[in-house]
Amino acid sequence: MIAITGANGNLGKATLSFLVKRTIPSNIVAIVRDAGKLGEYAGSGIHIRTADYEDQESLEKALTGVERLLQVSSSATGVRAMAQETRVVQAAVHCGVKEIAYTSTLFPSGFAHFHAAHVCQNTEELIRRSGMQYVFFRNSMYHETVPLFIGEATGRSFIRRATGV
Ligand SMILES: NC(=O)c1ccc[n+]([C@@H]2O[C@H](COP(=O)([O-])OP(=O)(O)OC[C@H]3O[C@@H](n4cnc5c(N)ncnc54)[C@H](OP(=O)(O)O)[C@@H]3O)[C@@H](O)[C@H]2O)c1
Repeated sequence: MIAITGANGNLGKATLSFLVKRTIPSNIVAIVRDAGKLGEYAGSGIHIRTADYEDQESLEKALTGVERLLQVSSSATGVRAMAQETRVVQAAVHCGVKEIAYTSTLFPSGFAHFHAAHVCQNTEELIRRSGMQYVFFRNSMYHETVPLFIGEATGRSFIRRATGV
């Protein structure tokens, strides 16, 4: 079976809608915190299982019988994100997952200014050492996060740098 964590999120849902065209529903495990958020798939034959990145036991139950996993990275930050992603990898190893695809980031490093890169470096290293086959998606910053950084400049056609900065 193929499982997706964060299956009700943007990437999770897009992947689910792709997968249902490629394999039979009983081959798919959609992992969510709240099954109600995948109501459109109720009765579809897809296995909808609940688990929380904070709860190791729930992850191990959700990954039972899974051979391939898309691990959607944590939306938490810092030490909490690291712990959450570590739990997912440990649960995958515990359940005998053979191949894992992980949404990493560009230039994962423990020394990066971009703090999420520290989390991704740690998770990649755990996966590399786990013995599972792996794929790392090293995407750059998503456009949707740009407004967080440029604030009021969103929607203008230019960004002006303050003198002396
Ligand atoms: N490189 C970048 O600039 C960038 C930008 C945006 C996102 N990302 C990363 O890419 C990932 C996917 O993006 P997306 O747009 O699909 O995000 P999204 O729509 O926010 O989806 C995140 C998914 O993770 C689930 N989740 C959050 N906390 C969880 C927990 N404690 N246990 C289990 N599931 C949990 C959410 O479930 P709930 O609905 O229950 O909360 C949701 O299904 C994000 O999680 C983030 O790490 C990177």
